[in-house]
Amino acid sequence: MTITVRRIGPGFAAEISGVDLSTPLSEDNWERIYQAFLEHKVIAFHDQALSAAEFHKFGERFGTIEPHTVEMYRHAERPGITLLSNRTELGRPKGIKDAGSHWHSDYSYKAVPAKATMLYALETPDEGGDTLFGDLAAAYQALPKATKASLHGLQARHHYRWDENRNHPEGRWRLLTQTERDQTPEVVHPVVRRHPETGELSIFVFPGLTSGVKGIVGKAPGESRALLQGLYEHCDQAAFHFRYKWRKGDVLVWDNRATMHCATTDKLAPDQFRSMWRINTTGTAPVPG
Ligand code: SIN
Repeated sequence: MTITVRRIGPGFAAEISGVDLSTPLSEDNWERIYQAFLEHKVIAFHDQALSAAEFHKFGERFGTIEPHTVEMYRHAERPGITLLSNRTELGRPKGIKDAGSHWHSDYSYKAVPAKATMLYALETPDEGGDTLFGDLAAAYQALPKATKASLHGLQARHHYRWDENRNHPEGRWRLLTQTERDQTPEVVHPVVRRHPETGELSIFVFPGLTSGVKGIVGKAPGESRALLQGLYEHCDQAAFHFRYKWRKGDVLVWDNRATMHCATTDKLAPDQFRSMWRINTTGTAPVPG
């Protein structure tokens, strides 16, 4: 079978055809897939039919799998797979209903954020439930030279589900247990990170609640807020965005080290159902750009 890689997004994102992920991959095919992952940052495979074991095996190719902190969302046989679903069974959620309908990069609030995330679509709605992506390497490249220079050496404070408003219903004080708060201390990452494999520089701050970006180290709150807001607005331009419309059987893999993403499951109509399996793999601590 010949693998074909075709660009589907504006400056990033590609679909790969001619590969059945349920069968062992030849080293040549794996090399092409991995190179496409690094080059295009988001890669899509269609019409896949995978067991949990097969999806897990494919996930392992992208690094060490990191199971979800909340055990009830783990797949019973393959705990490395996280269940995402807006369905309920006997009154209990069948998975995470909304894994993040705001711009974020997975586990950016950890000292070692995620490398790859992959989703496998078990069930897709007729309408809605798309995933949005932002190319943060392209966003960095498009910054004026003086802005790039001003970001050099800056670090941001990340704290899981931190929000200025301590009463935010999904913030860390209202949503997390004391144990979960203890397990998610504040971490510091460079505002611009260097990709460990491609060497590309990317912006690494996100407006989403789960990212919990508190501020820039050493800057007064007002200056820090203005700087972050400016970066968020810059990254929130259509030129850097790509919208993925799901089909049942799709597998999507993205590189969290150079992209951000945003689910849209918060806008799903009550009669529209979406169920996915998700795998995250561990990356490396971000290195300043
Ligand atoms: C995620 O944010 O990890 C999941 C994205 C989605 O459900 O579209």
